[in-house]
Amino acid sequence: MDGNGRWAAARGLPRAEGHRRGVEALRKTVRAAGELGIRYLTIFSFSAENWARPASEISDLMGLLRRFIRHDLAELHRNNVRVRVIGAREGLEKDIESLLEEAQQLTRANTGLNLVVAFNYGARQEIAHAARRLVEKALAGALKPEDVTPERFSENLDAPDVPDPDLIIRTSGEQRLSNFLLWQAAYSELVFLPVYWPDFDRAALENAIVEYQGRERRYGGLIAKTGS
Ligand code: IPE
Ligand code: MG
Repeated sequence: MDGNGRWAAARGLPRAEGHRRGVEALRKTVRAAGELGIRYLTIFSFSAENWARPASEISDLMGLLRRFIRHDLAELHRNNVRVRVIGAREGLEKDIESLLEEAQQLTRANTGLNLVVAFNYGARQEIAHAARRLVEKALAGALKPEDVTPERFSENLDAPDVPDPDLIIRTSGEQRLSNFLLWQAAYSELVFLPVYWPDFDRAALENAIVEYQGRERRYGGLIAKTGS
């Protein structure tokens, strides 16, 4: 969800207004994803590197998360959305940690859209954390070096039952992953859109899906010939 700041700057508005409008785009996108029958939607809402921003902006972003959970959790729950959180809990303010926990607990039995919130998230940190879990198991005698396979490794990531993304969309025109789901993105289709996140909507999501549908996914193999 990139480009909130540039969206605001282009209109002579403060960055905070861009973030506020970004939350509205998020609401619309979650609703559209549910209606389109998407099973998993992962949103990159705050990266482990975003702490490098000015304190006032960090506080704006934390305030928006608080308000989003307080204001939208009941509706998400009513809509059968299951909220999951990936990323580190260390370093978060206690009330933020509780709100994230509350969102997961309240919606844990829901069977609709899985909304995975990447918060205080960095893919390298997640991968290092998985390695640490494996080492702990090895030291406890529950794991041998030859047991460490890609599958076993995946099982130790933050949300092991969430499938790898088919499609990753980045807005704002930047063409990089910026430490997002590096392990899981091995065979994801990437779509980069020249729109700032606050302007993202259902039509943009549908266009990205159409683009995805035109891609040929071979996973390193060959494409099956038709008619033979
Ligand atoms: C994305 O918009 C929001 C977050 C990272 C939380 P940006 O804040 O990165 O907006 P730009 O990149 O400055 O336009
Ligand atoms: Mg940005």
